[in-house]
Amino acid sequence: MDSQTLFFLFLILPLILISHPIPANTEPNSTLIAKVCNKTIDKAGCLAILRSHPQILTAKNYLEFSRLALELAITKVTETQGFLKGLLKKNPSASIRYCAFFCYDEVVGSFKSALAELAEDFESSNYDAKVAGDGANDCQTELSSERILDPAISSRNNETLLLSSITFAATSFLQTCM
Ligand SMILES: *[C@@H]1O[C@H](CO)[C@@H](O)[C@H](O)[C@H]1NC(C)=O
Ligand SMILES: *[C@@H]1O[C@H](CO)[C@@H](O)[C@H](O)[C@H]1NC(C)=O
Ligand SMILES: *[C@@H]1O[C@H](CO)[C@@H](O)[C@H](O)[C@H]1NC(C)=O
Repeated sequence: MDSQTLFFLFLILPLILISHPIPANTEPNSTLIAKVCNKTIDKAGCLAILRSHPQILTAKNYLEFSRLALELAITKVTETQGFLKGLLKKNPSASIRYCAFFCYDEVVGSFKSALAELAEDFESSNYDAKVAGDGANDCQTELSSERILDPAISSRNNETLLLSSITFAATSFLQTCM
C-alpha cells in the first residue's frame, strides 16, 4: 500500500463516512430490537416476546416499532382482561373483580391512548405507555391483600409490566431520534 492510499484510508475515508451518517430512523430491525430490549426491565423476556411476534421484527424505524409494540400490548392485555373475567365466574373474589374491571380497564385504556397519541404527541404516548403498568401493580397488590397467590394471574401481570416497559422504551427513542 503506498502512502497516498494510506492517506486516503486514514484521513479521507472517515470524512466521507461522517458526512454520510446512517439516518437514526432507518436502522436495521435487529438493532432496533436490541436497543429497545436493552432498556427494559427484562431484556431476555423482551427479546422472547418480540421474536415470537415476527411482524415487529420488520419495523423499519422506532415509530413503526412503537406502533406494532403498542398493538401487541393491546392484544395481550385485552386477552388478560378476558382471562380475569373468566376466572371471576369460578372465583367471585373482590380482588379478582377489582383486577378484571378497574385495573385492566385502566391498563387497556392507557395502551389505547398511547397508540392514538403516537400520531401527534410522542411525549403523551410515552407517558401513557409507562402508566399502563400501574394497573398490573395495583392488581397484584390487591390480590396479595386477599392472599390470592395464583401464578397464572401474576405471570400475566408480569407480562403487562414487561409490555409497558417495552412500549415505554420504544417511545422514548421517538423524542430524541425523530
Ligand atoms: C446495552 O446497554 C449497555 C449498558 O447500558 C451498553 O453498554 C450496550 O452498548 C447496550 N447495547 C445496545 C445494543 O444498545
Ligand atoms: C428484518 O425485516 C425483514 C423485512 O423487512 C425481515 O424479513 C427480517 O427477517 C428482519 N430481520 C430480523 C433480524 O429480524
Ligand atoms: C413475576 O415477577 C416477580 C418479580 O420479578 C417474580 O418474583 C415472580 O416470580 C413473577 N411471577 C411469575 C408467575 O412469573
